Amino acid sequence: MQAIIVQEPGPPENMCLGQRHLPVCDEQNTLLVQVAYTALNRADTLQRQGLYPPPPDASDILGLELSGIVCEVGPGAEASRFKRGDRVMSLVTGGAYAAYCLVDAATTMAIPDSFPLRLAASIPEAWLTAYQLLHFVGNFQPGDKVLIHAGASSVGLAAIQLVREMGGVPIATASTKKQHLLHEMGVAPQHAIDYTNNPYPSLESAVEAATEGGGVDLVLCCVGAPYFGQNLQALAKGGRLVLYGLMGGSLVPSPLDLRVLMKKMLQVTATTLRGRPCEYKARLVERFWTEERRQKFVGGVKNGREKGESFETNVCRTFPWGDVALAHAMMERNENAGKIVLAVTPSLDER
Ligand SMILES: NC(=O)c1ccc[n+]([C@@H]2O[C@H](COP(=O)([O-])OP(=O)(O)OC[C@H]3O[C@@H](n4cnc5c(N)ncnc54)[C@H](OP(=O)(O)O)[C@@H]3O)[C@@H](O)[C@H]2O)c1
Repeated sequence: MQAIIVQEPGPPENMCLGQRHLPVCDEQNTLLVQVAYTALNRADTLQRQGLYPPPPDASDILGLELSGIVCEVGPGAEASRFKRGDRVMSLVTGGAYAAYCLVDAATTMAIPDSFPLRLAASIPEAWLTAYQLLHFVGNFQPGDKVLIHAGASSVGLAAIQLVREMGGVPIATASTKKQHLLHEMGVAPQHAIDYTNNPYPSLESAVEAATEGGGVDLVLCCVGAPYFGQNLQALAKGGRLVLYGLMGGSLVPSPLDLRVLMKKMLQVTATTLRGRPCEYKARLVERFWTEERRQKFVGGVKNGREKGESFETNVCRTFPWGDVALAHAMMERNENAGKIVLAVTPSLDER
């Protein structure tokens, strides 16, 4: 089968289309899926550079999510929920930049007939991560004020919509050129923070103004070190910080006074999704992919960006998969506002 090959760790140009063996569907709960679309994640760009090796039992082919058509079904009970020809999307630990991919049935979701496979490929990683951060790790409660760093990132855009869905208040940061997306997703003007052109002396004072001095209940941070101290300052008493990325670095630049943690009785947690066991991801999928949410995604396609009643996938660009190097370069320049999708076998969308 065709697959994207990383010839040697390095820049995007080191990737090309090549040949790999077709995976064999010989385990209980696996499905073989013909891939229609896959989508990019920051982890792919790190893996390409040799900085983020795949887990030991995962395919070494890049790609953490896909949409497509089931073409073989394993003998297990979980797999029997699916049949050949089903339209699905799946969260995988690797292997999605390929014409065919083995997926675990427990982390595979059936797609409504009217929902395009192109958009479906962009859902699993961003939305399951956002759901995990809020509900499995961050102990989100209705009414919570949630500070979402990189609000115009794929995970950020999903988190904003999930916070609104559950009656919370999203407060989000983004660069100037991506502010419009925060507004389109329903972030109130006073809750949209332009971190590249902040009129306040610090993030902490911008959050103070946005919350009328009360602070936020939960922070979702994928920037890391530069905001670690300010995140703690921005939290209200009993607040929670969930760290899930280190795009701005891992070494905290200035000394940190731990009294802020003690005084406000704060909780700090860090998490990844790829490294979690399959049972955990299966629980996540089961809780996230409800009939009500399926209809919200369908509604988003029909009605555009409706106010919290439907979900927007925010696919910002689709490349033919032969242009994978251009797609990675776009992400590494931070030019994407939402998901970048790769078309592998787009004709499957027309069946
Ligand atoms: N732990 C997990 O389970 C998990 C799962 C999925 C993703 N992640 C992590 O989540 C993060 C976001 O992923 P994604 O796919 O949503 O990304 P994405 O869609 O590519 O968006 C990332 C955006 O973050 C902003 N950004 C980049 N560097 C920044 C910095 N130093 N300071 C502030 N903002 C910065 C940029 O927007 P602006 O123009 O607004 O700056 C950029 O477009 C990544 O770190 C990824 O590795 C973690």
